[in-house]
Amino acid sequence: MSVAGSDKENQGSRYRQIAGQIKQAIDDGTLLPDTRLPSVRTLATQYRVSMTTALKTLRSLEDDHYAVARPKSGFFVAPLSRPQRAQPLVIEPSRQIAPLDEQTELHLAMVGTDCRVRLDLANGARSLYPVKKVGLLMRQLGYSKPFLLGDTVKGTGYAPLKAEIARRAIDYGCNINPDDILITNGCIEAISLSLRATVKAGDVVAVESPCYFVLLQMLHNLDLRVIEVENGQEGYVHVGKLTALFQRKAVQAYVTLANINNPSGKSIPNEQKAYIARQADEHDVMIIEDDIFGDTAFGERRPFPMRAFSPNAILCSGFSKTVVPGIRIGWVHSSNYMRKIASLKYTSTMGTSVLPQAAITELLRSGGYDAHLRKLRRELASQICQMRAAVLRYFPPGTRVSDPEGGYVLWVEMPRQALNVRTLFIMARNAGIGIAPGHIFATDDRYDHCFRLNAGFGWNKEVEQAIEQLALWCRESLAVQPR
Ligand SMILES: Cc1ncc(COP(=O)(O)O)c(C=O)c1O
Repeated sequence: MSVAGSDKENQGSRYRQIAGQIKQAIDDGTLLPDTRLPSVRTLATQYRVSMTTALKTLRSLEDDHYAVARPKSGFFVAPLSRPQRAQPLVIEPSRQIAPLDEQTELHLAMVGTDCRVRLDLANGARSLYPVKKVGLLMRQLGYSKPFLLGDTVKGTGYAPLKAEIARRAIDYGCNINPDDILITNGCIEAISLSLRATVKAGDVVAVESPCYFVLLQMLHNLDLRVIEVENGQEGYVHVGKLTALFQRKAVQAYVTLANINNPSGKSIPNEQKAYIARQADEHDVMIIEDDIFGDTAFGERRPFPMRAFSPNAILCSGFSKTVVPGIRIGWVHSSNYMRKIASLKYTSTMGTSVLPQAAITELLRSGGYDAHLRKLRRELASQICQMRAAVLRYFPPGTRVSDPEGGYVLWVEMPRQALNVRTLFIMARNAGIGIAPGHIFATDDRYDHCFRLNAGFGWNKEVEQAIEQLALWCRESLAVQPR
């Protein structure tokens, strides 16, 4: 039996409870400004309260400036009274049961938060990519070939795309059977599958140093040990040190960014690739190659991958750096491990969406891809050139900057006495400037004076000012005057 007084009290606390939940969703950003809130009737049904309590809930949100009532339309989340600022980067220690290492925490924070000047990731402005064309192709294909959406995804990928990839591979020295290609969700999945198919926990993997940080995290997550082989004078991996590891049987695999390395931007010359590949074959070292930037090489011809020099090398690539970043279509080719790779794919992500594969196929077939690549390379080369000149202009003497042969990024080495890049990173972030700090490119502190810059978002006053500001902090830390 209910008592009138306590019922009223219940109703009273109930509306506050419901309002509290809605406020929380607004504060968290789950409910964005101007989103329509549930009607009185819907709220009453959802929360099993009377219409009066539901109305009281909405009115209380209005009183607290969380909601506004619009005549004949209902209640809406109040528009923001002040413009939203980019959030400063907060890297909190993980509260998860399995805490992440500092590198991974920082990487996730970097990717997950916005900043005003995006110099941290290796990607480009939307205007660099044929976004509209790919969107149109997807729409047309969705209509003309409904099976691309309506059928279950089976097998190792869209056969016409695999045929196109194999056809293009001939141009860069690789004779590949389309059956030995599997389409993946981005190049990262291709590398992950290749590692899982060929090495086991505890094995040792050689990488080039500085090393693309996602790769380091991946090796760590797969319980693999890593040996970082530093680049030589020429800017690519020290071939003598690398092959000595092969000869000593110190490593089971070598994961390489032999073409347009991230972050160095260099490619290993063909002669050296051939030597490394021979040595790997002779000493039973598995080569897994990340060729995602191969097609962005600035020269007339894109460089040959390691696979051109050994049929045993596993080749991974994709279209997220060339066609459109959001498409997430990658691929892996292996002459020897395809069945294992396919079975791992099946038990992880099963398959890859077919419609985007079909759109890329059309782009490759029509010649649209080549025309687009020519433009992309030209624009990236010019953007890199301008950013590089600014780094040399503003940073103090003793600063070194890479001279990339393709891709999006520059590697900057400040004088060793300059401020630690971890400090620079936080200062930059708080000023709305994103950089990729050097320490995430290694397992130790050897790159604490380095950082990577992304030139993909074009050259403009804001970017130039950001470089100037970074340089100023660097100079101030050295207490030297501008050149
Ligand atoms: C060297 C390298 N490999 C792979 C990737 C990711 O490729 P995808 O987006 O196709 O998974 C990136 C992205 O920055 C990269 O720099």
